[in-house]
Amino acid sequence: TIAVLDFGSQFTQVIARRIRECQVYSKIYHYSTPAAQLKADGVIGVIFSGGPQSVYSKDAPHPDKAVFDLGVPILGICYGLQLMGHFLGGKVAKGERREFGHGTLEIFEKSPLFKGLPKKLKVWNSHGDKLVKVPTGFKAVARTENSEYAAMQNAERRFYALQFHPEVFHSERGTDIIRNFLVGICGCTGDWSTADFIKRKIQEIRDTVGKSRVLLGLSGGVDSSVAAALIHAAIGKQLTCVFVDNGLLRKGEREYVVSLYKRNFKIDLRVADSEALFLKKLKGVSEPEAKRKIIGNTFVKVFEDSLKSIAGRAEFLAQGTLYPDVIESVQIGNNPASLIKSHHNVGGLPERMKLKLLEPLRELFKDEVRAVGTALGLPKEVVWRQPFPGPGLGVRVLGDITAEKLNILREADFILQDEMMKSGLYWKVWQSFCVFLPVKSVGVIGDERNYAYVIAVRVVESIDAMTADWSRLPYDLLQTISNRITNEVRGVSRVVLDISSKPPATIEWE
Ligand code: XMP
Repeated sequence: TIAVLDFGSQFTQVIARRIRECQVYSKIYHYSTPAAQLKADGVIGVIFSGGPQSVYSKDAPHPDKAVFDLGVPILGICYGLQLMGHFLGGKVAKGERREFGHGTLEIFEKSPLFKGLPKKLKVWNSHGDKLVKVPTGFKAVARTENSEYAAMQNAERRFYALQFHPEVFHSERGTDIIRNFLVGICGCTGDWSTADFIKRKIQEIRDTVGKSRVLLGLSGGVDSSVAAALIHAAIGKQLTCVFVDNGLLRKGEREYVVSLYKRNFKIDLRVADSEALFLKKLKGVSEPEAKRKIIGNTFVKVFEDSLKSIAGRAEFLAQGTLYPDVIESVQIGNNPASLIKSHHNVGGLPERMKLKLLEPLRELFKDEVRAVGTALGLPKEVVWRQPFPGPGLGVRVLGDITAEKLNILREADFILQDEMMKSGLYWKVWQSFCVFLPVKSVGVIGDERNYAYVIAVRVVESIDAMTADWSRLPYDLLQTISNRITNEVRGVSRVVLDISSKPPATIEWE
């Protein structure tokens, strides 16, 4: 095990992720964890995370000093470097100006940490204080424009420290530096895999849950699907999943989810059939935020009701929360991973129903979740599925919602997905979907005038949904989509293409 001591950095989980990329197992510990505990856990190397504090401030988080006597290699990052300076006889001073952003690292001394790397690297910094004197037995290894001691080492004790953040994406070859520490210095074998992660998580889930029952709201999206498969692998029948059919789903969605989980995975899956209730509550409502609120509240109510009827001894509510869903609030000394975006926390439900949260994917990033899902045997169609908004087609039928409009949208959207799949582009874009526009335009079918609705096609590319650009789909594909929708879907006379980027537009229309 590699221990990552968390001093409150917003990047602690990113360090853990880089370690996983090197196929090494690590665990994040509270900064004050006693050295004896680390020893008992078989720790063979320690990484000090960064942190927002100054080592001199009154409530600065400090590690157990005995950690330095464990005899295992230590890598200090940023605040971690300053801690080493502070504890081992160096000197840290308030920086006159904050070093923030890119710097050029110049490596002038041989070090196993930079083995196989160029002498100059672009690195990313974020620190106020800086080291002005290296500790006893240490040697400076590299500098940046602003730090005389951007990297230092005591090769004999196998202590290494970096002022910059090798874990962030903006630091060139950062993962190689971390790998050099793990494999070259700590002697890790680098053969830890997704299968090992799953094995460990399964054990953890069993230990946490015991004989209790666990409930999970399955949406059919990637995160809840992988969470369901993982928890099911751990505790089988103790898991009950609830799928809320709110009538705002895509064509065939409910049948697909039921057949996948009930038939193939033999998961205890209950469907809450609540289309009528949702449509009743939404009747005549056209303001987007009002629609979202109604859909959210109704969802919580339906979910809660269905839990009541099956809960029994249920003690846990499972959720597919991922690390990026966790708000990165820098709580000094505590793991910042402590607050959850409200939409993931089903409307205060856990507190009201006195359920504990079970979030086995909490430390993972999306691509890692996909790897776990694949290893658990989930099909590609689920693991690589495009995102779908919680309020579903409710925000894609503009204005007030009726069963008729929903049906038109479902049919049109089905054709779009079909063509996207056939062309293979479904897997390359971020999202592709249709939007129902409540305007009528004139068309002609045969000799008949056709006064009917308009469907907008929205296909975007994006990395994280924060920004997006409209996809330049081939004209032939667009033509097929348009022809098929206008010919096959009754009630549509025209198809238009959305060519707006985000910003200023958003991906969804409401
Ligand atoms: P916008 O429209 O804000 O969407 O550019 C960004 C991404 O978020 C999805 N989205 C939602 N997802 N609940 C969700 O779970 C919602 O209420 C919601 N609204 C939008 C949207 O599909 C896109 O991927």
